[in-house]
Amino acid sequence: MNKQTEIGEIINVNGNLISIQLSDNLKSNMPVIDGIVYRVGQIGSFLKIPLGYANLYGIVTQIGANAIPDKLKELLKEGYDKLGNRQYLNLVLVGEQTGVKFDRGVSQSPTTGDKVHLVTINDLEIIYGGFDEKNSITVGNISVSESLSAKIDLNKLVSRHCAILGSTGSGKSNSVVVLLNAIANKEFKSSRILVIDPHGEYNDSLKGRSNVYKINANASLGEKELFIPFWALPFHELISIFSGNLSDSNQDYLRSKILELKIETVVKNKMQVEKEIVSADSPIPFSMNQFWFDLDDYERKTYGKDKVTEWLIKKGDPEKLISSEYTPAGIGSSEPYLNNNRKGILGFLDSVRVKMKDSRYRFMFKSGDFNPNLSGKTKKDLNELLIGWLGNEKPITILDLSGVPSEITSSISGTLLKIIYDALFWGQNLSIGGKQQPLLIILEEAHTYLKAGENSVSSRTVQTIAKEGRKYGVGLVLVTQRPSELDETVLSQCGTMIALRMNNSKDRGHIKSAIQDELQTMIDLLPSLRTGEGIISGEGVRIPSRVKFYKASNTPKSSDPLASERWREEKKDIANEYQKLLDLWRNQKLKENNK
Ligand SMILES: Nc1ncnc2c1ncn2[C@@H]1O[C@H](COP(=O)(O)OP(=O)(O)OP(=O)(O)O)[C@@H](O)[C@H]1O
Ligand SMILES: [Mg+2]
Repeated sequence: MNKQTEIGEIINVNGNLISIQLSDNLKSNMPVIDGIVYRVGQIGSFLKIPLGYANLYGIVTQIGANAIPDKLKELLKEGYDKLGNRQYLNLVLVGEQTGVKFDRGVSQSPTTGDKVHLVTINDLEIIYGGFDEKNSITVGNISVSESLSAKIDLNKLVSRHCAILGSTGSGKSNSVVVLLNAIANKEFKSSRILVIDPHGEYNDSLKGRSNVYKINANASLGEKELFIPFWALPFHELISIFSGNLSDSNQDYLRSKILELKIETVVKNKMQVEKEIVSADSPIPFSMNQFWFDLDDYERKTYGKDKVTEWLIKKGDPEKLISSEYTPAGIGSSEPYLNNNRKGILGFLDSVRVKMKDSRYRFMFKSGDFNPNLSGKTKKDLNELLIGWLGNEKPITILDLSGVPSEITSSISGTLLKIIYDALFWGQNLSIGGKQQPLLIILEEAHTYLKAGENSVSSRTVQTIAKEGRKYGVGLVLVTQRPSELDETVLSQCGTMIALRMNNSKDRGHIKSAIQDELQTMIDLLPSLRTGEGIISGEGVRIPSRVKFYKASNTPKSSDPLASERWREEKKDIANEYQKLLDLWRNQKLKENNK
């Protein structure tokens, strides 16, 4: 039986980069050793260089003409063809094994003439084995050897952030589910995972392990209503919900009005807050109805000659968002007069009223017990909101944002993240702070709210978490199909990179720039990966590996529908369906049973 594993020898060493000439007497590119077929020179496969008591391991990065050393290339040009049909390949050193222990990095380098061997199953077991069971999670199999499971170091994953990148349909959401299930299976009683889910695709696949907060929740399915009270939004985010261009001075005017109302809340409700510290950005309740009414009234007022008497016809109603009626201003210099100090913001105020009545914005402006009355008092405060999101008995909380109007998704998810991060920041010394109980945040479709070069609340917050989160125990998993749209600094902060199939070369270029230099050629493999297969590199794994993720038993909802199957079914009676569709559409609902 063939036990011959030697395939060539080193002809050049350049730092970490090793050039190898394959042996002339290598009988085949697919030798059979111990009954197992191996393939020599697969990009991404490992090779072994035995050096006495230790073995060095490297990853094949190049094979063929480009792997021919430069010197030989020159000789070739001069017509020197002693090369025969020799083959060359390059590899990058990645680790070293002594006994049964495998470590990343190498303590010595090989020299020319050293022999290079194929890596057998036994070697692979040493490379991938030895993971601390307690601290690692299993997410799939190593591609080159299905019998080996692929593990990720959980601590590194949480504390050093992670990015899951891949074209659409490459298996990103599936790998998130596999990852989260693996964590939830581990019986970590206090694990805290928050999934920001813009398409509501995770509800079913994480059932039993998660609480779902959703707009128009279906209580019979155990879903809870998602509220994001408007008053928790920073000033700028709140104002940007409404349309209408505001001059800087008008913005200042609104800001001071909101500040005034927030301070009023503090005073009236005897809140334990220093007045001087309150700003328009503070998460303090105030009545939006009162805000609207006061400003609206100021714009509409008309006065008599004495500049005091108001020519009021009918007082409006802040609760019902009805404006007050005044006698229209007289023509020329006749009574009554308009308010000379009015700001000309009736257009803006109109859009405030419309948005406050729009059912799609109920989650902000009719936020149940979080909605302030006219004097700014709420039944429940932010702490109750945070308990729901962060203090769940279940390990995973899904914030399903599928019902949020798309034009504000970015700003809403940004605000959510900001509320959560601020909470953990200020709670850092408490037992619920991130240091005591780390939080892992999964950001699906991260590119939508993390555009490169954009100065939005979401980009700013994610950048802060990427840079500082580690200190406060907040970890990120960024999931995106468009790495090229992602802010580069954030991508480079991700310690672990899971790159699934990626067809677009621009996106691959982006991944390349965020990945360790020597491994960049591996990125060229990405277009050819199978669905659910990816290259995991970085701190979370021992060694960059090509991994086939498990398939989750409950795949996320976005699973591709099988057209061939669906189209074969009998046509259904559809006359009523289009009527229903129209009703749903006009009422901005996705399901009939929803309120
Ligand atoms: N490891 C896997 N093994 C087998 N099938 C898989 C695997 N991962 C994903 N799939 C299948 O591939 C399809 C797409 O997967 P998934 O929804 O996870 O992709 P995605 O990258 O999240 O796509 P999108 O960008 O559209 O959200 C699904 O039908 C899923 O069942
Ligand atoms: Mg997906």
